[in-house]
Amino acid sequence: MKHLKELYDTRYSQTWEIREPADHIVDFARTLKKAVLILDVGCGAGRNSFFLAREGLHLIGLDISLNALKLASERNQKEKTQCIFVIGTFLNLPFSEGRFDAAFSSYAIENVSLENIKRALSEMKRVVKKGGMMLITLHSPKHWRFRQGKEIANHEFLTFQMIKNKKVEIVTHFFDKEEAERLFQNLGLKLLSIREVLRTDEKQRAHWIAILEK
Ligand SMILES: C[S@@+](CC[C@H](N)C(=O)[O-])C[C@H]1O[C@@H](n2cnc3c(N)ncnc32)[C@H](O)[C@@H]1O
Repeated sequence: MKHLKELYDTRYSQTWEIREPADHIVDFARTLKKAVLILDVGCGAGRNSFFLAREGLHLIGLDISLNALKLASERNQKEKTQCIFVIGTFLNLPFSEGRFDAAFSSYAIENVSLENIKRALSEMKRVVKKGGMMLITLHSPKHWRFRQGKEIANHEFLTFQMIKNKKVEIVTHFFDKEEAERLFQNLGLKLLSIREVLRTDEKQRAHWIAILEK
């Protein structure tokens, strides 16, 4: 996990997609009541948190990368938004049970093993109120990174990136629709909708967008 943190810290010292919210978060906002408390898991520089705050929601963003949270805090001050940013890991959320009306994780609980995805989802479920909504994204096998590196479990691959002359390990699990549905069912989460989104720039990126209810 320390290695992954280095990867993200480095990413956020360059600039990355940090301003505009993801389309699925814009859609998700329409399903949420105003003035409720939302958790943004793996918030990065906070692009989705800021969008939802401007829509009248209360936001807590959590991320493991200090560089990302510095960018988020600077923007929070500059734009006079009231988001709260917290450093921590989604494997062990530092919040009490049922604290949030809804939680989402956009492109964040993805570069970890299936076991850790289950743990992160259980944590999100724990901190959301009964009946609360969750949105998560998962990698689909149509992503260009599918089958890159060494297969360490079914549909789970280990790849490496060089960060500051150090080899950093990245584990990615790719879900077909049935496996994603089984995952949610086994965790006792009601699947409200699931769709596959393909984005192609230089290479094809493919994700599932799932909306769940606790
Ligand atoms: C691809 S970025 C997405 C950021 C943001 N959700 C967005 O859409 O702009 C993934 C984020 O997940 C964070 N992350 C990775 N592992 C984490 C962990 N174990 N706990 C909390 N955040 C983590 C990274 O630091 C990074 O900011």
